[in-house]
Amino acid sequence: MQLPKEVVKAVAEAKHLVVFTGAGVSAESGMPTFRDALTGLWSNFDPMRLATPEAFLQDPPLVWGWYEWRRQLLLAIEPNPAHLAIAQLTKKVPKLTLITQNVDDLHERAGSQGALHLHGSIFEPRCFTCAKPYVFEGVPAMDEEQAITPPPCKACGDPVRPGVVWFGEALPETELDAAFAAAENCDCFLSIGTSGVVQPAAQLPVLAVEAGAWVAHINPEAIDVEGSKEFSLVGKAGSLLPQLLKQVEAWQAS
Ligand code: OAD
Repeated sequence: MQLPKEVVKAVAEAKHLVVFTGAGVSAESGMPTFRDALTGLWSNFDPMRLATPEAFLQDPPLVWGWYEWRRQLLLAIEPNPAHLAIAQLTKKVPKLTLITQNVDDLHERAGSQGALHLHGSIFEPRCFTCAKPYVFEGVPAMDEEQAITPPPCKACGDPVRPGVVWFGEALPETELDAAFAAAENCDCFLSIGTSGVVQPAAQLPVLAVEAGAWVAHINPEAIDVEGSKEFSLVGKAGSLLPQLLKQVEAWQAS
């Protein structure tokens, strides 16, 4: 499929490309998204019981067990062609800033380095009280319903918590500042597989549009766009991104 030539040209000639990803980029690896109607995690689980500091304090084994289930799912899956194409795009432009809302490590396993993880990492737990990082030891057998008591912190003995940003918590400041600066200063911005409803991350494509960058959304659902420099590419990331990469390479070779 020929993608809009404006988008291909904008990526091929970008001086600073921003790639911003959400759960949709990992969907084809087998990781459920949050908000897809039937398969999304928040369609089947209540975020207020699983993804807030209050929920953790109320029932640590329930919350820790749920994140262990997701971590184990991640250990069993692989990056998909979308992650791989993004890693290849890094080599095609002078500067690429990768910003992700995902707590998985699939971008890294595909070869991308230096991704700004706005919502933390499921692989970097820390003590709930003193924040000392915790290193996982072994993988307990379990299913998604299973509660698991979180391990005690090696420094203070309090429970270890997942290293992710929960509802009501601040995003990591350094990553957030770098992401905002990139969105405001890039000349091309790709927003991939996000519903764009969780702030402040959802502000990033808006900032890029306001800054005059070319902006393209890649999503199976059409995204509302404004102006002549914003595009909605309707389809799956694992199919559209390799096509985009190919067409960018062809443009640069021509
Ligand atoms: P959502 O689940 O809200 O949105 C996923 C988006 O991916 C939807 O718009 C889908 O249409 C799209 N999608 C599904 N399959 C796709 C595919 N194969 N290719 C491309 N797009 C696809 O996930 P996020 O926008 O990432 O926060 O959610 C934002 C935040 O909400 C998450 O980081 C998480 C959640 O609560 C925290 O954990 C703090």
